[in-house]
Amino acid sequence: MGTRFSAVRRILRLPEARTTKDGRTFIIREMRLSDAESILDLMKSLAEERIYLLREADEIPESVEEERQLLKMYQEKNRRMLVAVMDGKIVGTADCRLGNIRKSRHTASFGIAVRKEYRGIGIGRALLETIISWAVEKGAKKLWLSVFSTNKTAISLYKKLGFEVECVRKGQFIVDGEYVDEVVMVRWVR
Ligand SMILES: CC(C)(COP(=O)(O)OP(=O)(O)OC[C@H]1O[C@@H](n2cnc3c(N)ncnc32)[C@H](O)[C@@H]1OP(=O)(O)O)[C@@H](O)C(=O)NCCC(=O)NCCS
Repeated sequence: MGTRFSAVRRILRLPEARTTKDGRTFIIREMRLSDAESILDLMKSLAEERIYLLREADEIPESVEEERQLLKMYQEKNRRMLVAVMDGKIVGTADCRLGNIRKSRHTASFGIAVRKEYRGIGIGRALLETIISWAVEKGAKKLWLSVFSTNKTAISLYKKLGFEVECVRKGQFIVDGEYVDEVVMVRWVR
């Protein structure tokens, strides 16, 4: 098994006010179904960037109602989505899925996204730390996520939070006609 890291244990009290690196305030709170429109807007803007999301623009929900239905899965007890709110809109999301069968119940996987204009000011890190705390509280031992090898910013964030490369799946994706490796990163919780 990989290197073990002790978890950052913090009590989750949401909503929580946080400060960006440049001194502005944002809030981290639970996703609500009424956020569907704002989340869909964020997902569309990410999909238009093409290089970060698994899905492309025509593979994400078209309507707010479709998005709302999709978000309902985060009401299941093994899932959770948090949002970051700033300037009156949702500027980032982090989601977690705990393994839902007995043999994988010790695992937790994560997804994270921050709106382009709001990157580099600490929102992604705050979201990921907060959702990791929830997974650890729920008893997760193996935290994992997968990322395109080309996504240096995300890989840097994950390394800073104690994730290590577990394996690389060569040519797992084709982005703009080029093969891109999938990097699976893990962090063990003691
Ligand atoms: C990856 C992502 C979530 C990071 O969020 P963010 O809010 O920009 O990150 P933060 O400002 O909290 O920075 C956290 C760390 O990321 C790294 N980072 C941030 N911006 C960076 C940049 N431009 N270049 C390199 N590293 C960078 C740094 O290591 C930083 O560490 P620090 O806090 O010690 O400075 C964000 O860039 C994003 O949404 N990207 C598009 C979607 C995506 O790639 N999702 C992940 C798919 S697996």
